Amino acid sequence: MKSSAAKRQTEYLQTEREQFLGDVLAGLQADRKTLNPKYFYDATGSQLFEQITALPEYYITRTETSMMRQVVKRLGEYCDGVQAIVEFGSGSGERSDILLSALPGITSYVPIDVSEELLASTANGVNASYPHIKVQPLIADFTESMQLPSATPERRLGYFPGSTIGNFLPAEAIGFLQNARRLLGTHAKMLIGVDLTKAVKKLECAYDDAAGVTGRFNKNVLTRINEELDADFVLKNFAHQAFFDHDRSRIEMHLVSLADQRVSIDGMHKVEFRAGETIHTENSHKYTVEGFRQLASKAGWHSTTDWVDDERLFSVHLLETN
Ligand code: AVJ
Repeated sequence: MKSSAAKRQTEYLQTEREQFLGDVLAGLQADRKTLNPKYFYDATGSQLFEQITALPEYYITRTETSMMRQVVKRLGEYCDGVQAIVEFGSGSGERSDILLSALPGITSYVPIDVSEELLASTANGVNASYPHIKVQPLIADFTESMQLPSATPERRLGYFPGSTIGNFLPAEAIGFLQNARRLLGTHAKMLIGVDLTKAVKKLECAYDDAAGVTGRFNKNVLTRINEELDADFVLKNFAHQAFFDHDRSRIEMHLVSLADQRVSIDGMHKVEFRAGETIHTENSHKYTVEGFRQLASKAGWHSTTDWVDDERLFSVHLLETN
């Protein structure tokens, strides 16, 4: 007989699979086919994303990291009394170090991620470097409703780096920021990284690099569907595409079907593709500093201050509740 922990894990994986299958079928049976970008990040996808962050064309991560070294020098002034940091989508947890090392008053760190393994390694890392900080990892999908561990101290700083907020439609971003405000409570602050609008060529190259890593990252979601949902996507029959849509101020990533083809998913479901038809796999919205301030204000936050790098590539916003 299975141990109860093993049984719980099996049940959890089954519900995960059902959710994934439901989302994939709904997305691929729609008139305009889509897949949710959160499904990029299985183990392979997370590794590919790590590779993206080191690409010469992908300016986001290195710009934000070097900005954060400057930001934290001033953050203490604004975050007097903050006791807890809540990080949305903590991933490999490397970024939190810059923040934790600069805010000596922090006694509690709540990394939120869907990956239990990443959370465990983040927790170990923080425990080793900051023995006085209590780490309370939260396994959750931050696009859904959440609850903080009950012992989380009251004065909280949310941290949402990487311009991941760009994956949301503007209306969804407002919804997320409203939820975050509720979660973080009174006195809440939020530090958030937001990519800026800029020359189209620079944006498009960042999402279509010469080495083809972003293409592999994009196509990996099909591999994941093949492996986890018993599908038969033929990868060479799809091409990576990334372009900037001016009207919506966003990079769109798609997978273009290179032929008329039919794919079977989970045995009994068939999805037809026409040559040239696409699966829309991601939006990355780009904002102006003022545009993002306005969006945040619709969610009940106001801007305390913000930072922009010398090349005006990226912005970091510190928000407070109204
Ligand atoms: C992790 C969502 C911020 O949109 O720039 C990178 C993901 N997609 N290259 C982004 C991504 C293609 C990335 N975010």
